[in-house]
Amino acid sequence: MTYEVSRVELADIMPLRVAVLRKGTPATDCNYPEDSYPDVVHFGIIHEGTAIATSTWFMKECPEVPNISAIQLKGMAVAEQLQGAGLGALLIDAGIALANEHQASVAWARARDSAMGFYERLGFVSTGDGFIDGPTAMPHHIVVRTL
Ligand SMILES: CC(C)(COP(=O)(O)OP(=O)(O)OC[C@H]1O[C@@H](n2cnc3c(N)ncnc32)[C@H](O)[C@@H]1OP(=O)(O)O)[C@@H](O)C(=O)NCCC(=O)NCCS
Repeated sequence: MTYEVSRVELADIMPLRVAVLRKGTPATDCNYPEDSYPDVVHFGIIHEGTAIATSTWFMKECPEVPNISAIQLKGMAVAEQLQGAGLGALLIDAGIALANEHQASVAWARARDSAMGFYERLGFVSTGDGFIDGPTAMPHHIVVRTL
């Protein structure tokens, strides 16, 4: 099976975001303020009309490396039964290509500690103190990839 990343609409990915990122969490909705940024890009992998993987990217300063051009990714989610098949890595590749178009110097995310191995495998480094994210109540760290 060959999977392709494309630019999609927020409505296409919201059911997947909620199913994967709001499973057993205090928050039940998965809207982000950044979804309305003018430069926001939602990437999706669509299979038989349904999103099976997604992430959302926008230019935003990283609190751990201020004053340099930075792109943030958020809402990284792969359908549970397809995790570990390389789809997440495809989304990161698409986001890094977008980052290069924007001439961003870093890409960063607020990463769940449970996903840290994924980000490290894709060239991100954990920086700063850990924190508990409000919507998920899960431990997180900021991760940064230098471009
Ligand atoms: C985290 C997530 C997005 C990764 O996507 P994925 O499609 O499962 O990951 P991939 O198959 O592309 O993995 C790429 C590499 O990272 C590794 N990896 C993936 N998830 C990992 C994890 N949780 N811990 C350690 N390594 C991991 C894979 O083994 C693979 O390494 P390899 O190239 O040596 O084989 C996905 O598992 C997911 O949606 N998890 C639940 C939601 C979540 O935690 N989202 C992130 C919020 S910050």
